[in-house]
Amino acid sequence: MSFSRDLERYAGLFASRTRVMKSSAMRDLMAITARPEVISLAGGLPDTSTFPPESFAAATRRIAEESCARALQYGPTEGLEETKACIAEAMAAEGMRIDPEDVIVTTGGQQVIDLVTKTLIDPGDVVIAEGPTYPGAVPVFSSYEADVVQVDMDSEGMRIDLLEATLDRLERDGRRPKFVYTVPSFQNPAGVTMSAPRRRRLVEVARERELLILEDNPYGLLRYEGEAPEPLYALDGGVYVMYLGTFSKTLSPGIRLGWVAAPAPVLEKINLGKQATDLCTSTLTQLMVSAYFEQGRWRDYVASLVDLYRDRRDTMLDALAEHFPPQAEWTRPAGGLFVWATLPDFIDTTDLLARALRENVAFVPGEAAYLDGRGRSSMRLNFSGCGHDEIREGIRRIGEVITEQVELYGTLTGERPALREPAPEPAPEAGGASVVALPDRAERERRAQRP
Ligand SMILES: Cc1ncc(COP(=O)(O)O)c(C=O)c1O
Repeated sequence: MSFSRDLERYAGLFASRTRVMKSSAMRDLMAITARPEVISLAGGLPDTSTFPPESFAAATRRIAEESCARALQYGPTEGLEETKACIAEAMAAEGMRIDPEDVIVTTGGQQVIDLVTKTLIDPGDVVIAEGPTYPGAVPVFSSYEADVVQVDMDSEGMRIDLLEATLDRLERDGRRPKFVYTVPSFQNPAGVTMSAPRRRRLVEVARERELLILEDNPYGLLRYEGEAPEPLYALDGGVYVMYLGTFSKTLSPGIRLGWVAAPAPVLEKINLGKQATDLCTSTLTQLMVSAYFEQGRWRDYVASLVDLYRDRRDTMLDALAEHFPPQAEWTRPAGGLFVWATLPDFIDTTDLLARALRENVAFVPGEAAYLDGRGRSSMRLNFSGCGHDEIREGIRRIGEVITEQVELYGTLTGERPALREPAPEPAPEAGGASVVALPDRAERERRAQRP
């Protein structure tokens, strides 16, 4: 039976929200890029081959010997006390103090985005997000029928002046956003970090306007240089800021362990939402984290990841400088896993991906990071999941397909696409990412018109 006949049979049964549900671009890409011949710079995969098998074996052996029945049992929805103690330790490493009562252990950080949206959003309610935003949040916001308003970023993260202007505009229309979603450190996908003054102002704005913030921070500990600015959660003290943490990038995404800290009344609703979703997070992996933390080497492991990913980032930046045409520009992240590259406007990176896949290389097209069709000439490139040779070769292949497009454009239009202006020397500013400024559309259009 054909898929369309099948669809007819079931279509009348679907909830109306399924019409606005979106597939995650990255999930789709993961299926294609699983082919061994494809170099994937698309995923956000940490390199789990670096995790010491003996630590894994010791942790699981200990659980088998000391708490087998408990590990195989359901647990409390809010999570195990010993896992919360590890969470408190991880948050303390970034200057946050947390009361275990204020935390729920979740099935990955992704579940936090889902539960917070489920708790706060009725169809049509406004969520404010960065532009570009984490591509994995897009399907969540869509499935709860949120109206997502994206606020542009520059090299210091979300433009808080634009945020305030957006809030004023919404207020005039009688609309009050439910929350602001931000990834302030080493943003996925843009790689930029919100500066300390912007963080302070964002927390002030939240207080002035009684607005919740969801601070999503999977990458804060993966810092390759510079000083860490204070997390929003520390600045606010957990009044208006909800905090999403995860062990995915500092330990393993396979264990699916994240957490949310939030004001008590909000946490209570999130707890109800979680009960309905999955009753509790895996007891087994919660115990694995606590057994691993007891070994006392988790910070050393994170330090080894920092060294590894810093080198891979440098390899990617060198390869970009060598292989991408001068009309391209890209961010220079001081941490995290991603570089965001922007090409001339006439290149559509979704089309470009089809060509790149023919050359057995993949990236995430920028469109996946917007809900309004923007981002079409940008791409997200991951440098943590591949070795140096693959990064160099992957960037070389992508550079080749871009160069073809640039030359084709020149041949068809007789115009020479505008050159990228030299990147400013990254200033070693306290806490901020050293980045090439994210291109502002108007500025890029002006540049493109120059002869
Ligand atoms: C910004 C951001 N938030 C949340 C997640 C989800 O992480 P997990 O569910 O693996 O904890 C990711 C994963 O890449 C991410 O980049």
